[in-house]
Amino acid sequence: MYSTLDITSIRKDFPILEQVVNGKPLIYFDNAATTQKPQAVLDALSGYYGQDNANIHRGIHTLAERATAAFEDSRKALQAFINAPSADEVIFTYGTTDSINLVAQAYGRHFLKKGDEIIISTMEHHSNIVPWQMLCEEKGCLLKIIPINDAGELDMEAYELLLSEKTKLVSVVHVSNALGTINPVKEIIKKAHAVGAKVLLDGAQACSHLEIDVQDLDCDFYALSMHKIYGPTGMGALFGKREILDAMPPYRGGGEMIKEVTFAKTTYNELPYKFEAGTPNIADAIASKFALDYINQLGKNNIATYENELLNYATQAIGEVPGVKIVGQAKDKVSVLSFVIDGIHHQDIGVLLDQQGIAIRTGHHCTQPLMQRFGLSGTSRASFAVYNTTEEIDAFIQGLYKVRKMLG
Ligand code: ALA
Repeated sequence: MYSTLDITSIRKDFPILEQVVNGKPLIYFDNAATTQKPQAVLDALSGYYGQDNANIHRGIHTLAERATAAFEDSRKALQAFINAPSADEVIFTYGTTDSINLVAQAYGRHFLKKGDEIIISTMEHHSNIVPWQMLCEEKGCLLKIIPINDAGELDMEAYELLLSEKTKLVSVVHVSNALGTINPVKEIIKKAHAVGAKVLLDGAQACSHLEIDVQDLDCDFYALSMHKIYGPTGMGALFGKREILDAMPPYRGGGEMIKEVTFAKTTYNELPYKFEAGTPNIADAIASKFALDYINQLGKNNIATYENELLNYATQAIGEVPGVKIVGQAKDKVSVLSFVIDGIHHQDIGVLLDQQGIAIRTGHHCTQPLMQRFGLSGTSRASFAVYNTTEEIDAFIQGLYKVRKMLG
């Protein structure tokens, strides 16, 4: 299937792309780190601060009402985007990391006890490792790790062997930021539920490439970041099933999370406000809706089809560059291309490509244990979004030939 998107017109929606970097037109291939923002999102940010700026949920004046309505509209847009049963089950956070920490603190500290086991995988981002290590240290729980094969796919037989009645939580990445692997999360969830464990999915990378349906997945928690899906930084969400969120105590106190405060006792607000202490990130929440609208207009499937075309094109082309090895060759992948070149340090590749106006990420991608699994200190990573083109990939490949000539 070929994409029907008009990429020339899409590129015009992203003013940042029209710049020259180090004397060359910018080629932005660092989309797994953060995507660029369309004009509609930029306009929403300045529109809020220019017209509607007010604190939400607590004012009765017109600006406060406008800001509150826009803020809650964004929550509804996000609910639809992930097909959550209700907007109350969508908690605004500062991003995926914040969402995972919320679960570790409010669910983990309350419900897990000494000897309980938490399963994660070898390909987790540090944000889905460290909060659990902190919890294990405090509560005396044990962290178990699903191994992966050389292609960068989870070893599902090993996963089954790790599961037992001691497993209380499974927290895995839906799509790997360093390899691009799409994990078989429905199967993971089904097997975890069979032993009574809850499941959190780290959706930071998946949300920009895949249709997310939390009801179909049947996950207990889903964490995501808006800045990976053409929205602002410092803005994310946690989906949680209502009965679990209701049972969890709040973990930050103050602001909108209270119902009534006396010095003797405080009662807490309903969902989702129970977990949203303090003045939230109002502008970025409001602007997020415009990012979601933008994606919906293009069609998530159209975006995914086009990104797959880019990935296939780049994978074939890079395979012809002498000395290149792709790291992450899973059968199911999104448009993330991690690679190493024999005898050339990943950082040098990044610096020399930057001199040609090409932005990629190099290093361990916040996945040091995964890099250790492959015996690497890091990789170079090109990651594609809807505004990238095959012509840009051609320039990137030419750039790699230049790097090889200079350093190989
Ligand atoms: N987790 C982000 C990345 O993969 C920052 O680059």
